Amino acid sequence: MAETDLIKDAAAVRENAHAPYSGFKVGCALRSVEGHVHRGCNVENVAYPEGTCAEAGAIAAMIAAGDTRIAELAVIADSPMPVPPCGGCRQKLAEFADGDVIVTMATTSGTFEQTSVGALLPGQFNAAHMVKAP
Ligand code: THU
Repeated sequence: MAETDLIKDAAAVRENAHAPYSGFKVGCALRSVEGHVHRGCNVENVAYPEGTCAEAGAIAAMIAAGDTRIAELAVIADSPMPVPPCGGCRQKLAEFADGDVIVTMATTSGTFEQTSVGALLPGQFNAAHMVKAP
């Protein structure tokens, strides 16, 4: 698969990451089905579990801008190997992207790997399970 221009956007927003507790800055850029690029970085809090991941930030930016679905995304971190989205972010991505949407996982040293949203979260929990919910 081909390198995506979203890696550059993810790297740029990673510079803004607020990660004083982990020291691990992450950037995410996504292209919406509407054709716009939205970006997010991780934002940590001193109450550690309250922090948000880069992917969550990019999804929030997409929704706030009025766009609806993810067409493609890239995540980047300074790591020896490409960092896959955490479990919570896999669920978030799966709710805003089709299973065949490409996820590019990049490192600041220039390597990257690609997978899909469906491969990251097989058997996802979704609204179809909640037909009996009020
Ligand atoms: N993090 C992300 O932003 N995205 C990921 O996919 C993996 C982890 C952040 C959360 C936390 O701020 C830091 O990386 C260390 O876990």
